[in-house]
Amino acid sequence: MRRQWWQEEVVYQIYPKSFYDSSGDGVGDLRGITEKLDYLEDLGITMIWICPMYQSPMDDNGYDISDYMGIAPEFGTMEDFDQLVREAERRKIKIMLDLVINHTSDEHRWFQRALEDPNSACHDYYIFKEGDREPNNWRSVFGGSVWEKIPGRDEYYFHSFGKKQPDLNWENPALREQLYEIVNWWLKKGIAGFRIDAITFVKKDLTWKSREADGADGLSKCTKSSRNQPGIGSFLHELRERTFDRYPCVTVAEAPGVAYGELGDFIGEEGYFSMIFDFRAADLDVASGSEWFKRVPWTVEDLREKIMTSQTEIQKYGWSANFIENHDQPRAASKYLREAQGNPEAVKTLGAMYFFLRGLPFIYQGQELGMVNFERKSIREFDDLSSTDQYRRAMEEGYSSEEALRFVNLRSRDNARTPFPWNKDRYGGFSRTKPWLGMTEEYPAVNAADQTGRPGSVLEFYREMIRFRQKGPCRECLIYGDIEPVDSSREVIAYRRYTEKETVYCWFNLGGRETEEKLPEVSAKLIWKTGGEVRIRGNRLLLEPYQSVMVRTS
Ligand code: NOJ
Repeated sequence: MRRQWWQEEVVYQIYPKSFYDSSGDGVGDLRGITEKLDYLEDLGITMIWICPMYQSPMDDNGYDISDYMGIAPEFGTMEDFDQLVREAERRKIKIMLDLVINHTSDEHRWFQRALEDPNSACHDYYIFKEGDREPNNWRSVFGGSVWEKIPGRDEYYFHSFGKKQPDLNWENPALREQLYEIVNWWLKKGIAGFRIDAITFVKKDLTWKSREADGADGLSKCTKSSRNQPGIGSFLHELRERTFDRYPCVTVAEAPGVAYGELGDFIGEEGYFSMIFDFRAADLDVASGSEWFKRVPWTVEDLREKIMTSQTEIQKYGWSANFIENHDQPRAASKYLREAQGNPEAVKTLGAMYFFLRGLPFIYQGQELGMVNFERKSIREFDDLSSTDQYRRAMEEGYSSEEALRFVNLRSRDNARTPFPWNKDRYGGFSRTKPWLGMTEEYPAVNAADQTGRPGSVLEFYREMIRFRQKGPCRECLIYGDIEPVDSSREVIAYRRYTEKETVYCWFNLGGRETEEKLPEVSAKLIWKTGGEVRIRGNRLLLEPYQSVMVRTS
């Protein structure tokens, strides 16, 4: 693959509502991010992805945009944004924004105009259908029909996600032009690129035919009919040509539903995007990422299989975007380590396992502290739209309210959205006032101040790990090297990274038992470890529970 500037980045994802509140209103803000840039610089990350900070009624916390070129007042002003970019630049940190162009808020002026005047050009910016009932039985991602009735009229509009998030009609070239203008306006402002939201939803099955019901509600998941549909390529190609191609920018698309065989179109040399996220490993505990009550038992072997398949498939075409957490996922320690979630050694090994894969590492705020899920006692304590919907759907499918709450606690997006614990003060030093969402109970023990400078802390480990990838002796191999799975014990994930000049073998024991692994060469040189002494007996490597080891051969 041709080298690209962005292959050396380490991205830190910020959920602005929950990062740091500088104004004291209980909600995080842009100035708050600027104030914490020193923390991020010390950590060693090189790029920030900021989740949507545009004007929005915040029904889906910013993924419902009412003005693409305005900043949400609770997050600050455009001056605050410009200052953040300048201050970040001073520290050589780049800014990636979230681009949400599959849908807007129903409070966007285009949608308001469409409602006011069905003959206006804006009416065709969205998907409306006339009739006295829903045009089909598709279920939206956040529950209920994808169709919402317009009060007082026999007309419905389409939404893949929440009902305050009407989908844009990408079939309309004039709408697409409007979107390109917005994208180029931000790129001209000097941002480094975009994480692109739900982009595989922009093409729908235009027959709008109902499908066989797949739930007790009589509906059928809309993803079968409105995600990655034939013909999407011409939209995505045009998007790239009219915007991203004109700037030296990086793009990472949230593109669920893309088969491995299609990766060439998406991330190949002439692909629509620089990278896409693969959710197969992230969703290994549920039958579908959007149905949390369909739990799936899994083993470390299953996780290994998913990760290594993803890595080797993506390697055929391009570059991976590696993550174990984001704002839609539970905390990685809780999901992947289960009963060992509070064991810092296990948290470190899990971190290193994904961090040294081939591709760009993404770290989600709080992951570097080893944060865990926050169990809530009642459905009323949740803010996340999908949590309330999944609770309702689980009961509709026959589960008790206790079971439904358990599913939601395991998977709720609020697990990752709790305010960032900066220190052990009241509200974790996140705000002077009661935060918009409850803090985790762990913050007096798990917080940034406590872990800063403390040898052995998860935070210091992340700092060291980032430094090792960026500046260590095997930097070339760990950044650009190819990847291949290596045989290992059942609870160990092992791979090798290699260039023509050197090979690094990596073992990560994700189980609570000691294991024995085969060393490639007796003369292999130890370059990295977590846990206790590394024990080598002849060509055997003994791994402690939750230990990670890397050796180099050349
Ligand atoms: C994916 C985003 O990551 C999620 O937070 C959001 O709710 C949906 N897309 C809809 O925009």
